[in-house]
Amino acid sequence: MKYRKLGRTNWNVSEIGYGMWGMGSWTGSDDAESLGSLQMAADMGCNFFDTAWAYGSGKSEGLLGKLVRANTDKKLYTATKIPPKNFQWPSRREYSLDDCFPPDHIQKFVEWSLRNAGLDSFDLLQFHTWEDNWLDDERGIMKMTDLKNQGLFHAIGISINRWEPWNGIRAVRSGFIDTVQVIYNIFDQNPKDELFPACREMNVGVIARVPFDEGTLTGNLTKDSKWPKGDWRNTYFVPENLNPSVDRADALKPLVPSGMTMPQMALRFILGEPTVSTIIPGMRKPAHVKSNLKTSDDGPLDHGLMKNLEKHRWDRKPNKWSQ
Ligand SMILES: NC(=O)c1ccc[n+]([C@@H]2O[C@H](COP(=O)([O-])OP(=O)(O)OC[C@H]3O[C@@H](n4cnc5c(N)ncnc54)[C@H](OP(=O)(O)O)[C@@H]3O)[C@@H](O)[C@H]2O)c1
Repeated sequence: MKYRKLGRTNWNVSEIGYGMWGMGSWTGSDDAESLGSLQMAADMGCNFFDTAWAYGSGKSEGLLGKLVRANTDKKLYTATKIPPKNFQWPSRREYSLDDCFPPDHIQKFVEWSLRNAGLDSFDLLQFHTWEDNWLDDERGIMKMTDLKNQGLFHAIGISINRWEPWNGIRAVRSGFIDTVQVIYNIFDQNPKDELFPACREMNVGVIARVPFDEGTLTGNLTKDSKWPKGDWRNTYFVPENLNPSVDRADALKPLVPSGMTMPQMALRFILGEPTVSTIIPGMRKPAHVKSNLKTSDDGPLDHGLMKNLEKHRWDRKPNKWSQ
């Protein structure tokens, strides 16, 4: 495993980190299997773990706490997120700070997340939705800074809404935040346009999330894919999304070099972007952990394949199902 600096935090984080949404609330999760996968990742050198209160109302945070307590010999970086008070994803322009992150709500959820995890502090606390215009109401950032100064966490981040990399650039330039979490993958390359240059300029760490486009870029979805009742993917992969996503993933299949899998190609594409500090694939199965973590040693793709994959950029705009 190789490590990169997470911006101004100066933490050395593993190139492949760990996304913990699935194990909190997607159907088909098995806690014993999830814990085994987390431990395998820690043993293989993964040291950055991303969770949120919203991933099973604290369930995923509880699993992270267990992992940390079982590995007191290792430095594992813990990142969680405060849900918006109105529980609406994504945020919309008309939502105010009071709708989503009033100071008392921030305090309540930071304390709740710490209890869920059974930890005294987190390394990184992120806003789970974000509007750049909330910077005009300083109460949010002031509350976060106050709690950080109390030692409840050590760095402040934002998680940028799906397909809105522009809606975080002001926060990056404000100097208030240490990290951004943003969707970046073979399809969603637009953070490179303005967000990444701003992050480099301000030394803000970049966490690349959703490397497999929620599953499409594993190459395993078909136009008939369905999930058990209650799984959020049924509401995201509506035909309007699933059909073109599968077509575009199928167009990538002939490009996968022999000896490599499509998920590995997807991760190694992201490793080619030096602004990204850590990639956080969602994983619940040991086989996925093993295959994904190995990509750090294999390194970025060769120049020709990178250039070819850049042509598969897909610029999308938020809409009624995108969440
Ligand atoms: N708003 C936000 O802040 C936000 C939103 C979305 C995600 N996130 C964060 O980003 C993380 C990653 O995103 P995500 O989990 O939604 O989506 P993702 O990483 O794009 O895809 C996860 C899916 O890929 C599968 N997978 C992983 N490795 C695989 C492999 N080697 N071969 C085949 N399939 C593989 C997983 O299966 P298994 O689970 O069965 O292993 C899971 O179904 C989340 O876990 C969360 O921490 C944050």
